[in-house]
Amino acid sequence: MSYPCPTSCPFSVGPASALEFPVGQLHRFRGSNAVPGEVDETKRNVLKLLVAAGVVGAAGGGLVAGSLQFAQPPTVGLTSFPRVQLLDLDGSPLTVTNVEKEYNAGTTDVLTFNYPLRNEPNFLINVAPAPGTSAGASNVVHGVGTQNSIVAFSAICQHLGCPAPAIHYYPPGMCPQSPGGRPFYIHCTCHGSTYDVTNGAANLTGPAVLPLPQVLLEWDQTDDTLYAVNEVGPPVNGHLDTLSGDYGVGTSSQLSKQSPVVACNFPS
Ligand code: FES
Repeated sequence: MSYPCPTSCPFSVGPASALEFPVGQLHRFRGSNAVPGEVDETKRNVLKLLVAAGVVGAAGGGLVAGSLQFAQPPTVGLTSFPRVQLLDLDGSPLTVTNVEKEYNAGTTDVLTFNYPLRNEPNFLINVAPAPGTSAGASNVVHGVGTQNSIVAFSAICQHLGCPAPAIHYYPPGMCPQSPGGRPFYIHCTCHGSTYDVTNGAANLTGPAVLPLPQVLLEWDQTDDTLYAVNEVGPPVNGHLDTLSGDYGVGTSSQLSKQSPVVACNFPS
């Protein structure tokens, strides 16, 4: 199985797209039988025709462009962050009780839900220690639940945009490295960036430099349900604005589960 991991910056210009000569420099092309200094009248007439056609075409093109600017569809998206109920893998309402029973800092499954747009996946992670262990954390930044340990972060890397499961949460002991002294973290297998799940997905090691956007969760204690209500941090990678680029998920978003892609590759 292969994953869409870019190997280089997609914004650099490759040799194939480079011009052969500087813009504005004129080149003269001659036929093999041309006499130096002699004017080819046939070619001159063809050129005159092309120039005339260009003038007419430019005038027509201006009219068409003027009309098209009113025909372009508006960018799809949302005007504000919605309150979206999270659903469990089976479609039932996701509850804090279930999350704390099923998932903890030792969970290797990649759990994601889309928010606020359909093409914006996010991790759901509970960093509370597994029963009988001490590896984990509580009262983390923007954490919810009985230990303030349930968090959600964009599942698209802030380096070159590798998505889950190429980027995912690494429980304690999955790799021997402890970037920034953290034994558990989010790691991107594409080029090795790591993020701190206890501190708003702050960047621990590059090549990424920005944190992952964090989805703000709300715990409704009247019925134990969970909602995504906002997002903080930089825009989701690949989007100029987290609210633009696709349709919203609606009033609910269901968890999905994938197997992790484990590779302990870290830039030296
Ligand atoms: S895409 Fe390069 S580290 Fe994630």
